[in-house]
Amino acid sequence: MSTGTNGAIGVGLLGAGVVGSEVARALLSRSESNERFLDLRSILVRDTSGDRPGIPSQVLTDEAEHVLGDSEIGIVIELMGGEEPARSYIAAALSSGKHVVTANKEVIAKHGDELTRVARANDVGLSFEASVGGGIPVLAVLQDSLSANRIDTIRAIINGTTNYILTSMDESGAAFSDALSQAQQLGYAEADPTADVDAYDPVFKLAILSRLAWGVSVAPSEVYRSGISDIGAKDLRYARELGFKIKLLAIATSDGHGIRCRVHPALVPTDVPMANVNGVMNAVEFSGDLVGRLWLQGNGAGAGPTASAVMGDVLRTARQIRSGNGSTYNAEAGQDTAMRREILPIDELEIGYYVRLSAVDRSGVLAKIADVFGKSRISIASVIQKDSDDERGLADLVITTHPALEARMQTAAERLRELDVVSSLDNLIRIENYESSTGT
Ligand code: NAP
Ligand code: HSE
Repeated sequence: MSTGTNGAIGVGLLGAGVVGSEVARALLSRSESNERFLDLRSILVRDTSGDRPGIPSQVLTDEAEHVLGDSEIGIVIELMGGEEPARSYIAAALSSGKHVVTANKEVIAKHGDELTRVARANDVGLSFEASVGGGIPVLAVLQDSLSANRIDTIRAIINGTTNYILTSMDESGAAFSDALSQAQQLGYAEADPTADVDAYDPVFKLAILSRLAWGVSVAPSEVYRSGISDIGAKDLRYARELGFKIKLLAIATSDGHGIRCRVHPALVPTDVPMANVNGVMNAVEFSGDLVGRLWLQGNGAGAGPTASAVMGDVLRTARQIRSGNGSTYNAEAGQDTAMRREILPIDELEIGYYVRLSAVDRSGVLAKIADVFGKSRISIASVIQKDSDDERGLADLVITTHPALEARMQTAAERLRELDVVSSLDNLIRIENYESSTGT
C-alpha cells in the first residue's frame, strides 16, 4: 500500500457534491487532528471551473486517471453516485491495490459481491457504511456487534427524502412537490429524485442489509417495491383519524427457509416508535435471537451525517493500513451462511389493508362492497364513510381489513374496481402488523 513521502496516506475523492464536498472539507480541516496522516491529493468532478467553498481549486480534476492512476493514493472515496462510471472506477481502484470507501448503495446492491471478490483478490478493503442509514452506524452494528445473532426481522425507515416528504405533508399540509423541492435543497434527495420517491433507493439499502444479515445475495429486482407518489393528503388525514401514520417501510424477514424483502408505504400505529420517526430521520430495528429487539435512529441523509459515516470508514481503513492490517471486507457474508437462498414472494404475505374508494352514496352499496371482501375471504375490520361529493352523488369509503393473504387482496381489489357502485379505487395501503412477536 502506498504512503506519500511524509508517511501520509494519499486519498483521492471521486465526486465533490453534497457529500463529497463535506468529506473534502473534513479531510482538509481536520488534518491536524488526524496527525496529517491523510493527504487529500485529487478530487474528480465534472466541472472544475466553479468555486467550491473550502476546497482549493488545484486539487480538482476532471480526469479520473488523476485519481485512479496516482500511485501515491492508497484510499479512494467514491461519492459520485449512479451505477456507471462509479462501478468501473471502484473496480479499477480495487484492482490497482487501493482501498475504497463508498456511499453508493446502487453499486453495492447490484455489484457488491463482484466488487468484494476484486477487493479480496487484491487484499484491499471495500467499505460502505454510508450507503445505508446516512449517519447511523447500521452496517457496523449488523456485521460486528450483532454477528452472533440469528436475525429474523429488519424493519426500517431508510429513505430520508420520502420520510421528509410524508412528514411535511402530514404535519404542515405541504404539497408533495413543495416538500420534495425542500428535500432537494437540503441535499437529501438523489440526483434523480425518482430514485427516492419510487423507492429504488430504499430497495438498494434493504438488499444490502439483507445480504449482510443473512449472507445471501438479494438482487434489488427481488425486493418488492412501491413508492410514495400515490399517497395523498386525504390518506394521511384518514390514517391519522384511524390512529395511524403513513411511513415508507423497508422490511426483510427470514423464517430460516427463505427471505421476504419489501419496501412500500404502510400504516403504522401512532403509538409505536416507528410512527414517530420524522423528517430526515431514519430508524432501523433488528430482531435477533440473542439481542431481542434493537433500535437505531439518526439522521438518514444530508451532508454532515453522511460525511460522518464516510469518514468513519476512511479513518478505520487508514488505521488498519498503518497497523499493517489493511484488508477490511465490509461485504463479508453474514451470519446464517447455511440458509437456503429462497426469496419468498409478496403474494404469500399476510397483512391488513387500508382501502380508500369512491362509491355511489346510496343504500345497498355497502352490502355489494362487503360481499366482494366476503367472497375473497377477507375479514373487514372497519368501514368509515368520509368526504362526500354531493354533486356527483359519491362518497369516500375507507375500509380497513384484518390480515389477509396479499394475493386475495389483489383479487378483491380487481373485483371492487369492476363494481358498478364503485367510481374509483383510490388507494390500497398495507397496515403493518405490530401485534406479532417482531412488532414494536
Ligand atoms: P451529488 O451532489 O450529485 O454529487 C455528485 C458529485 O459527483 C459531483 O461533484 C459531480 O461533479 C460528480 N460526478 C458525478 N458524475 C460524474 C462523472 N461522470 N465524472 C466526474 N464527476 C462526476 O451527489 P451526493 O448527494 O453528494 O451523493 C453522492 C453519493 O452519496 C451517491 O451515491 C448518493 O446515493 C450517496 N449518498 C448521498 C446522501 C445524501 O444525503 N446526499 C446520503 C447517503 C448516501 P460536479 O460537481 O462537477 O457536478
Ligand atoms: N436520497 C437518500 C435519502 C440519501 O433520502 O435517504 C441517503 O441515502
